[in-house]
Amino acid sequence: MVKTAVLVSGGGTNLQAIIDARIFGEIKNCDLVAVVSSNPEAYALERAKYASIPSYVVDRSVFPNRLSFTKALLEKLLDLEIELVVYAGFNFILGPQFINAFKNKIINIHPSLIPSFCGPGFYGLKVHEAVLSYGVKVTGATAHFATEEADDGPIILQKAVEIFEDDTPLTLQRRVMEEAEWKILPEAISLFCEHRLEVEERVVRIKGVQDE
Ligand code: GAR
Repeated sequence: MVKTAVLVSGGGTNLQAIIDARIFGEIKNCDLVAVVSSNPEAYALERAKYASIPSYVVDRSVFPNRLSFTKALLEKLLDLEIELVVYAGFNFILGPQFINAFKNKIINIHPSLIPSFCGPGFYGLKVHEAVLSYGVKVTGATAHFATEEADDGPIILQKAVEIFEDDTPLTLQRRVMEEAEWKILPEAISLFCEHRLEVEERVVRIKGVQDE
């Protein structure tokens, strides 16, 4: 079983999707040992409690800079002997110490089809506001390995979602979550934990069960 920590900062609906998918047997070989929040008020912490998953707070606001925050998080995850890190609505970019310790072992979910509508400043509702103002007809979500750059790194899974004429940022956010994020994030975690992901430069190959 792959020892997994989910990092959160807010509501935690993606964390809930992971918890539910595990209950339904849709994530294989994954031991969800920790939820770590950068925000002591995050509702995600309640979700962890209801699911009896140990939770920890590494409060970003008490650290003077990115380096000290990165070091504290790294120490916590190394203590817990974590093998897979999942950013599920985690709002921070961590420094190279963290990324190097978990190279191609951090999965992020982003609510657009990368490389569109991503990077610094594109998070949460802001992504959907930008999508609607640009007037694209299709958006979606991307599960990818995280690097030191925002929403960069090899893409594992993507799923497209149609945009309707009467969409608001809120209706679009909800549909992208329901139709894309809550599906591809658990699926990407399962593929990782089943050792079915192979990374070559930017490209991720998904090995079939028969390839093993
Ligand atoms: C989700 O839509 C997630 O994809 C997005 O923030 C939301 C968090 O919701 N993440 C980003 O925009 C990262 N660039 P949640 O806390 O309910 O899972």
